[in-house]
Amino acid sequence: MSGIEIEGLRPLNGDVRIQGSKNAVLPMMAAAVLHRGTTVLENVPRIQDVFCMTDILTSMGCRCRMDGHRLEIDARTVSRVAVPREYVASMRSSIVLLGALLGRTGEAATYYPGGCSIGSRPIDLHLYGLERLGAEIAGQEDGRIAARADKLTGGRIRFPYPSVGATENVLLAAAAARGTTVIEGAAREPEIVSLCRMLSGMGAKISGIGEETVTVEGVNEFHDSEYAAPGDRIVTGTYMSCVMAAGGRAFLRGTDAVQLRGVTRVLRRMGAEIEEAPSGIRVGMARRPGPVKVRTAPYPGFPTDLQSPMLSLLSVSDGCGQVLETVFEGRFATAVQLRRMGACIDIEGNKAEVRGIYPLRGACVTAPDLRGGAALAVAGLAAEGKTRIGGCAHILRGYEDICGDLKSLGARIRQLPEAEEAAGERADGRG
Ligand code: UD1
Repeated sequence: MSGIEIEGLRPLNGDVRIQGSKNAVLPMMAAAVLHRGTTVLENVPRIQDVFCMTDILTSMGCRCRMDGHRLEIDARTVSRVAVPREYVASMRSSIVLLGALLGRTGEAATYYPGGCSIGSRPIDLHLYGLERLGAEIAGQEDGRIAARADKLTGGRIRFPYPSVGATENVLLAAAAARGTTVIEGAAREPEIVSLCRMLSGMGAKISGIGEETVTVEGVNEFHDSEYAAPGDRIVTGTYMSCVMAAGGRAFLRGTDAVQLRGVTRVLRRMGAEIEEAPSGIRVGMARRPGPVKVRTAPYPGFPTDLQSPMLSLLSVSDGCGQVLETVFEGRFATAVQLRRMGACIDIEGNKAEVRGIYPLRGACVTAPDLRGGAALAVAGLAAEGKTRIGGCAHILRGYEDICGDLKSLGARIRQLPEAEEAAGERADGRG
């Protein structure tokens, strides 16, 4: 898919299944490396980041078989402990392989990670945590990081900030370390809970799951296991934003409403009617969104990954709203694109002031990053005329079938063949 075209101002109605969670599945795939046997993951989303992680595992000697949404990883043989550079550049979450490989072989090498351009994204906390478990880590001028540990040994780790990735890396290494590891200041995101549950299912001994202090008792051996990834809470939040931008009523199936409470609280204040059900979330919107002030924060706060869709919603709200980004400093690139659609957004440091205008106007825009790209689809649903979104490779990293899903709810949306997208870009002066 090279581009997306949306004709806005049509309500969304119906029922859609939410894909499995990207951010839960990627560290779970890394966890499979710890075990000299087979791990099966269900509800795996068919997205670019998963395919990339599969390629990395294969390059390391694992045998991966994906059948629909079921992924079988046979990690009996791990013949290579280095993550190839080309993959690291396109997927930051490959950094979690550092902890998993150290746990499995006592040796690991990778490069400083890439991923979305949303701030500086250092990895000091990852390295600090692994060093506390006895790893010796050497960084090289070309960006290569080599880590080794004759024997990982449990220790006390105190994170000054609840980094999701650093918590995952330490959990993976600690599960195979000798003795007990106590992680204080751990991230509490649902994806951390999923990883801990999966590791427990493989034989790890973990207590304090989902709390700020997590204790891991290292084990020597893991066993074959199966685990189903939860529904993706960020995709759920994106689709809720779509319904709110377009108006209508939809049931989002296969998602855990409890994980979204920090989000639904805000969306209700904007006028959304939201009902939690055991099998998903129902969202309805009968008017233009109301303005709110939102501050992103680690879980259970409002997720930074839904900050861009929120900018789109505030852009069509009936008043003046504000977004304070506290997690990633450079995450307002979507605003530049939204302004091309007529949005009125002022940025000062980590604060965005938004004056709502309805409707926006269709334009040729470019996805600046994964969630920013999805946010442009949200805006396109509340825009008059046609919106063309280029740079959709970003969106494919995390959304399995955003066009098919929104179409099934009644949106006029289509994937653009490459030639048409290029023509749109030239007409827009970007070609
Ligand atoms: C994960 C998610 C991402 C989400 C983010 C915050 C995955 C694959 N990605 O990213 O979608 O937006 O959590 O919920 O799960 N930091 C440091 N030093 C470190 C590590 C992080 O200073 O060593 C800083 C980062 O620069 C950032 C903040 O901590 O400002 C949060 O980062 P972190 O929680 O680590 O996010 P990721 O794991 O990269």
